[in-house]
Amino acid sequence: MYNLLKGKKGIIFGALNEQSIAWKVAERAHEEGAEFVLTNAPIALRMGQLNALAEKTGSQVIAADATSLEDITALVEQSMEILGGKIDFVLHSIGMSVNVRKKIHYTDSNYDFTAKGWDISALSFHKVMNVLYNKKAMSEWGSIVALTYMAAQRVFPDYNDMADNKAYLESIARSFGYFFGRDHKVRVNTISQSPTPTTAGSGVKGFDGFIEYAEKMSPLGNASALECADYTISMFSDLTKKVTMQNLFHDGGFSNMGVSDPVMEKFE
Ligand SMILES: NC(=O)c1ccc[n+]([C@@H]2O[C@H](COP(=O)([O-])OP(=O)(O)OC[C@H]3O[C@@H](n4cnc5c(N)ncnc54)[C@H](O)[C@@H]3O)[C@@H](O)[C@H]2O)c1
Repeated sequence: MYNLLKGKKGIIFGALNEQSIAWKVAERAHEEGAEFVLTNAPIALRMGQLNALAEKTGSQVIAADATSLEDITALVEQSMEILGGKIDFVLHSIGMSVNVRKKIHYTDSNYDFTAKGWDISALSFHKVMNVLYNKKAMSEWGSIVALTYMAAQRVFPDYNDMADNKAYLESIARSFGYFFGRDHKVRVNTISQSPTPTTAGSGVKGFDGFIEYAEKMSPLGNASALECADYTISMFSDLTKKVTMQNLFHDGGFSNMGVSDPVMEKFE
């Protein structure tokens, strides 16, 4: 390993189980010398296996519902106490759509569910940055990353209202990134990841066929959760200090493809 995060302190949202992208980020951050607090919604802590990850990485776990400013405030205050200072990196790895979960078609959205999913998947990113910004909790040249998906730019019919949530999330990264950069020299980016077999990913209708299609469309193949973690570590390191307000595709080339030979072969 490269000691890329030696001495850095962070908060990692969204590790649920070993498949979670945030889980892999935590393991890689630990290997690279970082100290961090792990957090997830109270219900996820009851269902998930976060304690095992905490033990493995020498981290503490703090429950926080990412839609609650009160929870986020307590989380940030306690994290600074535990870690002994300001925060260098934050991962927002949170997504959930009630419409998707209840298999409600996009054209027939239940708007209470839409609002709930938007609050969890998009607005929570604003709330987290609101607390970090107003508490001046981030170190200079700190780095904040949220995970997103290309359905923010292009239509993937079964991604449902998560597409709209991701578009909003990416916009928040730009808008808040301006103020965080100007005032605190902190960078804010989104990483747009390939389809990945996790609890959230597999919940999308037709996921198995789709992940295979993306694999065949991408010249480098789909990016795995571990590869996403590696890229995220580089975004937390001092090697990417001037990258901010970007949506960064981490998808084996998929986003710039029209059609590939393996996909054409299926139609010839
Ligand atoms: N899996 C994919 O195909 C894929 C592709 C691109 C982007 N992403 C994004 O990556 C991120 C991580 O998802 P994942 O694939 O690792 O799945 P995951 O299911 O392991 O992670 C989603 C996390 O969101 C957490 N969460 C839900 N509601 C919450 C709340 N109210 N407060 C705090 N946390 C809450 C869950 O507990 C869970 O840990 C998400 O933003 C997802 O949209 C996933």
